[in-house]
Amino acid sequence: MGKVILDMAMSLDGFIAGPNGADVGLHDWYFAPAGQVAKSDAEVVAESINTLGAIILGRRTYELGEQQDGFVDNPHTATHFVLTHEAPKRVAKGNTKFVFVTDGIESALEQAKTAARGKDVAVGGSANNAQQYLKAGLLDAIQIHLAPILIGEGIRLFDHLGATHIELESTRVITSPRVTHLLYRIIK
Ligand SMILES: NC(=O)c1ccc[n+]([C@@H]2O[C@H](COP(=O)([O-])OP(=O)(O)OC[C@H]3O[C@@H](n4cnc5c(N)ncnc54)[C@H](OP(=O)(O)O)[C@@H]3O)[C@@H](O)[C@H]2O)c1
Repeated sequence: MGKVILDMAMSLDGFIAGPNGADVGLHDWYFAPAGQVAKSDAEVVAESINTLGAIILGRRTYELGEQQDGFVDNPHTATHFVLTHEAPKRVAKGNTKFVFVTDGIESALEQAKTAARGKDVAVGGSANNAQQYLKAGLLDAIQIHLAPILIGEGIRLFDHLGATHIELESTRVITSPRVTHLLYRIIK
């Protein structure tokens, strides 16, 4: 059976976006011009494209992606499940298949697992999403793409978790000049 993996790019000081939600260089390793992507980074991206059967994201991340035409030529062909209180009237341009889920994180995960057919499910964009799944104990692993930048303020990934105590086992570290990919298993 596939794993449920929190997958996020984060600054060294713990932010997944700048103050206005800007990406501020967190994905430079991902969007590097052709020919300048490190082999190890390309392999990590290829792995996620091949192993993910579904992706869960929040409505705001979906809207930002739509505004930037981020789902046009989306290499991730897995169905995207968008958590929202109300489905939009029109859907983002591109070939990405979206399912809008209005009845909570458990329902989104159940639907994502069914769609994934044994492949992994990524809990992606963003912090709000991540915190809900972490708190609910629904994750098996965490993959952090740690960007070598300090942002100082913005949206923190591991915020609003209260006194949550979660133990992790480091299972892989892959480094390139632009990013360090950290993979952890959540000990249950
Ligand atoms: N660093 C990275 O890897 C990464 C990846 C993706 C995104 N991001 C960044 O993350 C930022 C957005 O994150 P965010 O935390 O502000 O927002 P978000 O998680 O993308 O979206 C939050 C919204 O999703 C909906 N939602 C979330 N949980 C729900 C639930 N249980 N039931 C119903 N609806 C639910 C609500 O929208 P409604 O009430 O409007 O329906 C909520 O306001 C952006 O700046 C983006 O660039 C970073």
